Amino acid sequence: MCGIVGYVGTNHCAQLLLSGLRRLEYRGYDSAGIAIADEEGEVRVCRAEGKLQQLEQAYREDPFDGTIGLGHTRWATHGRPSELNAHPHRAGRVIVAHNGIIENYLELKKELTARGCKFSSETDTEVVAHLIDEMWSDSDQSLHDATRLALDKIEGSYALAVISTENPDELVVARYASPMVVAHGDNCAYAASDVPAVLDHTRKFVFLHDGDTAVLSQEGIAVYGDDGQPVEREVKRIHWDPVSAEKQGYKHFMLKEIHEQPARITDTLRGRVSVDRGEVNLAELNLDADKVADLDKIVFLACGTSYFAAQIAKYMIEEVARISVETDLASEFRYRNPLVSDRTLAIAISQSGETADTLAAIREAGELGATTLSIVNVIESTIARETDGVLYTHAGPEIGVASTKAFTTQLAAVGMLAIKLGRLNGTLDVEAARELISALRQVPAELETMLQDTSQYEEIARQYSRANSFLYLGRGNQYPIAMEGALKLKEISYIHAEGYAAGEMKHGPIALIDRNLPVVVLSPQNSVYEKTASNLEEVKARGGRIIAIGTEGDDRLDAFSDVVISLPEVPEFVQPLVSVLAVQLLAYHIADFKGTDVDQPRNLAKSVTVE
Ligand code: F6R
Repeated sequence: MCGIVGYVGTNHCAQLLLSGLRRLEYRGYDSAGIAIADEEGEVRVCRAEGKLQQLEQAYREDPFDGTIGLGHTRWATHGRPSELNAHPHRAGRVIVAHNGIIENYLELKKELTARGCKFSSETDTEVVAHLIDEMWSDSDQSLHDATRLALDKIEGSYALAVISTENPDELVVARYASPMVVAHGDNCAYAASDVPAVLDHTRKFVFLHDGDTAVLSQEGIAVYGDDGQPVEREVKRIHWDPVSAEKQGYKHFMLKEIHEQPARITDTLRGRVSVDRGEVNLAELNLDADKVADLDKIVFLACGTSYFAAQIAKYMIEEVARISVETDLASEFRYRNPLVSDRTLAIAISQSGETADTLAAIREAGELGATTLSIVNVIESTIARETDGVLYTHAGPEIGVASTKAFTTQLAAVGMLAIKLGRLNGTLDVEAARELISALRQVPAELETMLQDTSQYEEIARQYSRANSFLYLGRGNQYPIAMEGALKLKEISYIHAEGYAAGEMKHGPIALIDRNLPVVVLSPQNSVYEKTASNLEEVKARGGRIIAIGTEGDDRLDAFSDVVISLPEVPEFVQPLVSVLAVQLLAYHIADFKGTDVDQPRNLAKSVTVE
C-alpha cells in the first residue's frame, strides 16, 4: 500500500522525507515522490517511477529544500506506475499526497474538466488536488477550510496530506478508512501513514480517527472531528523498535496481513457494489448480456492458493449464474491439449500477476481464441497487461510469503463476478442480488469480531503442534478451504497436511485415522451440513481427534469433537470467506508455536516467475 510522510517545522526536510520513505519501503511501492515548499511558498516536486534510488538520483540532479514538505510511495491502484502518476500531485496552489481510493473520481473528474481543469495524471488523487484548489475561493478561508469542503464531495477512503503555495507554514491532513498519524516534535510536527516513517524523530503520536482532519505547524497540531469542531485526541508514547513498528506491533507480517483482511475486503468491494440497486459494477471487464449468453464455459487458470480461489469461483458462479465453470492448474493446462473456443471465457487468478505457469496458460487460452480476463492484485503486472480485462483486488502488497489477504480479496472479487454474471445471464433477480451483495458486505464485520479474541488458536497450537500430519475435510465450497488450510499449515509449520473432499474420506484416507492424526473438519451450517457432520461422526467412531470448524452454537459438533472453533452465521455463498480465517489462524499459531520462519518459510518464494 502507499505510504505518506509529512513535515513542518524549522529544519530543512528533504533528507527527513527521503529517509521516512525508506522506512515505508517494506509496504511495497512502484513509484515515489517528494514536494517541498521554501519560505516564499515556491513548491518544487520531484517524482520517479521505480525504487527510491531512482527518486534520490532525480533529486540529487536538481536538489531543493525547505521547512515544509510531503513524501509519498505509491502502490498503483488507478493508473499505471509512472512518473506522471506518482504523488505528490499539484493543482494550482495545492499539493496533495493520498492513500486510499476515491470511488467517485470519474464523476468528479468529468465535472472538473467541464469547468476547465486540466489533468496531468490518470490517478484518482489528482481530482482531490483540483477540488481543494477550486474550493479555496475566498481569501478568508484557510487551506484546512478548503480541504474540508472538498472532502464533503468525496466518496471513498483516504489518508491525505496537503500543503500549498499560499500558506507555506501549514500542513493539513485528513483521514477516512485509511490510516494516518500525526506526531509532535520540538518546534515541528510530523504526519505519516504509518508510525515507522517518523519513529527516528519522535515518539509522541496521535492516531487520528475516521473523519478527523488536522492542521500541523511549527506551533503544534490542532485536530478537528468529523463535525469540523476541535477535538482532543490522546498523545500516545510509542516504544516500538523500528522493525516491530513496520509490523505495526504484530509479531509477523503474516499475522498483520491476517488482521488487515476486513479492511482489504472492504477496499475490494468499495465503489463496485450497491446493495440498494442490487448491482455490481465491473465496467473494467467489458462484459455484457450478449457476451455472457454466448459463452460455452468459463475456465479459471491459477496456481497454489489462487487455484483454490478459482475452485470457490466454480461453486459461486455455477450456483448463481448457471454457467459451466472449469478450473485448471495452470501448470497442467499449458501442457495438455485443452478444449477452448472463441466462446470460452478464460480467467487467470494471480496475486502477483507474474506467475510463470499462470501467464503461459492464459496466453495459451487467448491464442486458442478465448476471451481472457484476470483477477490480479499487482497493477500493471504482466498478466494484468496481457488480458482483455482485469479486475484488481485491493489487497495491497502482501509481504508474508504465505498468501492470506490476497486470497480473501480474490474471494470477494469472484463473489462480485458471480453476481455480475448472474444478473447479466438473467439467473439472478435484483432481490437475490441484493441479498448476496449484503452477504459480501457483512463479511468484514464478521471477520473483525472473529479477530478480537484468538486465544483459542494458541491453546490448540499447544495441544496439536507435535502431530506429524493433519487431515482437513470439507464439502461443497468448504472443500477448497480444506485444501487451503492444509496448504497453509504445511508451508509455514512444515507439518504434512492433506485437504480432502469429506465425501471421499471413505474411499481411502479413512485408513489413516487414529489418535495421532488430528482431523480438521470444516462443517458450517449449510446445504451439505448433514453430510459433513456424518463424516465427522465416522472419524470419531474410529478414534480420530477432531478439530471442528462450524457455526456458533452447533451442539452436535460439540458432542463429537475434541475442539470446536466457532464461525459466525453467514449465508453459504460467503462461508469460505469466514472459515478460511479459522484455518489461517490455526496454521499461523501452530507455526509460531513451533518457531518456524513464518514470513519466509524455507524453499518458498513470493512470486514464482519460473516454471
Ligand atoms: C501459498 C501461496 C502460493 C501462491 C501461488 C500463486 O500461500 O502464496 O501458493 O498462491 O504461488 O501465486 P500468484 O497468486 O501470485 O499467481
